Amino acid sequence: MAKNIELFYVTSEVSPFSKTGGLADVSSALPKEIQKQGIRVNVFTPKYASIDDSKYKLQDVPNSDFQIQIGEKFLEGKLKSYQIDENLIVYFVVNDTYYNRSGLYVDPLSQADYIDNAERFIFFSKSVMEAAKRINLKPDIIHCNDWQTGLIPIYLKTIYADDEFYNKTKSVFTIHNLAYQGIFDKSEYYKIGLSWSFFSIDGFEFYDRINFMKAGIIFADKITTVSEKYAEEISSSVEYGYGLEGVLANRKTDLHGILNGVDYSIWSPSKDKYIPQRYTTRNLSKKVINKKALLQRFQLPFDENTPVIGMISRLADQKGFDILEVASDEFMQLPVQLVVLGVGEQKFQNFLEKLRYHYPDKVGIYIGFSEELAHLIEAGSDMFLMPSRYEPCGLNQLYSLKYGTVPIVRATGGLDDSIEQFKSETQTGTGFKFYEYSKDALLNTVRNALEIFRDKGLWQKIMINGMKQDFSWRASAKKYVKLYKTLMK
Ligand code: ADP
Ligand code: GLC
Repeated sequence: MAKNIELFYVTSEVSPFSKTGGLADVSSALPKEIQKQGIRVNVFTPKYASIDDSKYKLQDVPNSDFQIQIGEKFLEGKLKSYQIDENLIVYFVVNDTYYNRSGLYVDPLSQADYIDNAERFIFFSKSVMEAAKRINLKPDIIHCNDWQTGLIPIYLKTIYADDEFYNKTKSVFTIHNLAYQGIFDKSEYYKIGLSWSFFSIDGFEFYDRINFMKAGIIFADKITTVSEKYAEEISSSVEYGYGLEGVLANRKTDLHGILNGVDYSIWSPSKDKYIPQRYTTRNLSKKVINKKALLQRFQLPFDENTPVIGMISRLADQKGFDILEVASDEFMQLPVQLVVLGVGEQKFQNFLEKLRYHYPDKVGIYIGFSEELAHLIEAGSDMFLMPSRYEPCGLNQLYSLKYGTVPIVRATGGLDDSIEQFKSETQTGTGFKFYEYSKDALLNTVRNALEIFRDKGLWQKIMINGMKQDFSWRASAKKYVKLYKTLMK
């Protein structure tokens, strides 16, 4: 019988314990599905202040305490655990100095990155390696995610190359977002604990600074990203590659695009525990009850014939708020209402607040993070807008499909891969797409959607086309498992 694969899935956020974006959803859903395919999955993640020990009844892991050297400092850590399933366990790396804070990467008050982020994630990467040895849990594959875990592949090939415990372990590195690379001043290099020979063009060095993502890409055995289109974009264009397009092009044969999926036990209008009215394709007319509840929540008037356009998003450059801002006056002349849930950069927050001030009957804004409201917006909106400048995968457009909330997206990355343009002639397609990153392309596409919205029969057809799509994780998880198996040959 084939040996059971022992997998480490290392991630800086995982739902429901910690979340700033889609990585948390992926880190909770994908391990579950991989485990179903007969693999033992151990998720490793930091134990942040927001994770309530007593609520989840986290277990102490006996003899898991370890010590890590960072520069001249020696720091202690240990593990706590939470068993999800027989073959799925989450290990929390505990160190209060680094993780017992209110934000994950950014100080919520100042909105600035924590100044010791390099140290925090050097510590995290080293902790996984050392703690596993302490508890004698030997991985076949370490699956790393984004820059926060970018050091593990190089540690495997240097510090641990001759270590009997790790000398057969392979690494996979997934890029969820290439715009966040973990770039630090080279004065911090000594904390990594590797010789200066790795601070070179073939290693960490990036315009005379340290780049964690770059090291991950160069030293991992396989690299994946979260859609095929994004894999193509980041390895071929300066616009998407953020300076790493050349490095990625060099590793093209090891770079795979695997689309994210959806955990339909959480994101499904027939089971959703947050929404006032559940529905399916068979009683779609009930969706309007959620629309009413949503509008009431934002104290906006209800009109059946005025579509509500929803947005749920980090307020970041990536997400297209700049073209929305330039388009906003013309946008507001259209017969629509706009509801936005988001948190992030102040300039986008100001834009949204101003918009609400000028159009109080048309615009609802909630600045903050709310899981419950995210579900209500998915269920209560008629359309969902994602005008992203770039989008590695995007999850909300996938959720929207299932909720019969028709996506309007810019055709980039995973948005392009997952949404099919609706065509009236054939009545095929699941949403509306535009290509050029401009206010005019955005407005024209919204106008086009509004035109079709007036035809109730046609609109219902698009909704149902979307609701019938299946983006469950099974198919994508199989692709990951296949990749692990190739590495173990
Ligand atoms: P990204 O990872 O770039 O932020 P995704 O579309 O992949 O984008 O995933 C975003 C996830 O975060 C979704 O689950 C979305 O519902 C959630 N989300 C984003 N902003 C908020 C917010 N302010 N409140 C609640 N959920 C949010
Ligand atoms: C990133 C991307 C998003 C993707 C998510 C999960 O944050 O911005 O497009 O869906 O990671 O992979």
